[in-house]
Amino acid sequence: MKERTLAIIKPDAVKKNVIGEIIAMITKAGFSILAMRMTKLSVAQASAFYEVHKERPFYGELVDYMCSGKVVAIALEKENAIEDYRKLIGSTDPKEAAEGTVRKLYGESKSFNAVHGSDSAENGIREIGFFFAECEIVNI
Ligand code: CMP
Repeated sequence: MKERTLAIIKPDAVKKNVIGEIIAMITKAGFSILAMRMTKLSVAQASAFYEVHKERPFYGELVDYMCSGKVVAIALEKENAIEDYRKLIGSTDPKEAAEGTVRKLYGESKSFNAVHGSDSAENGIREIGFFFAECEIVNI
């Protein structure tokens, strides 16, 4: 079944100038890009996006980091998108990520881990809706 996931190229990866490399990995893995935008999140936006983590000790650091520079949000679609994208990016901690994954190649730490991906099909839809209006999704 086709699923959707939200990818975010995070501030550390944007600062490293590897946006193109990461998008190439995503498209070579068979994902269709439905929408894409560069933006800089406000504290309010990042706090709302990661609200599910608000009780976690790293929440403040995560919000600060996600507001620290430009990010690229990308709505993706593919058969089995959630699992396949998570395999492509690797474990949350780049030190534990498999060779050849995005986080192994470009991540620094659990906090500065280069990319985000949705953790379920339901969250994929919700998170894409956070960044894109329905009329911005190009699904042809
Ligand atoms: P992401 O896929 O964006 O979803 C939640 C983020 O929280 C995750 O990537 C990490 O960047 C961050 N995160 C998860 N666990 C930790 C942790 N133990 N310490 C710091 N950041 C974390």
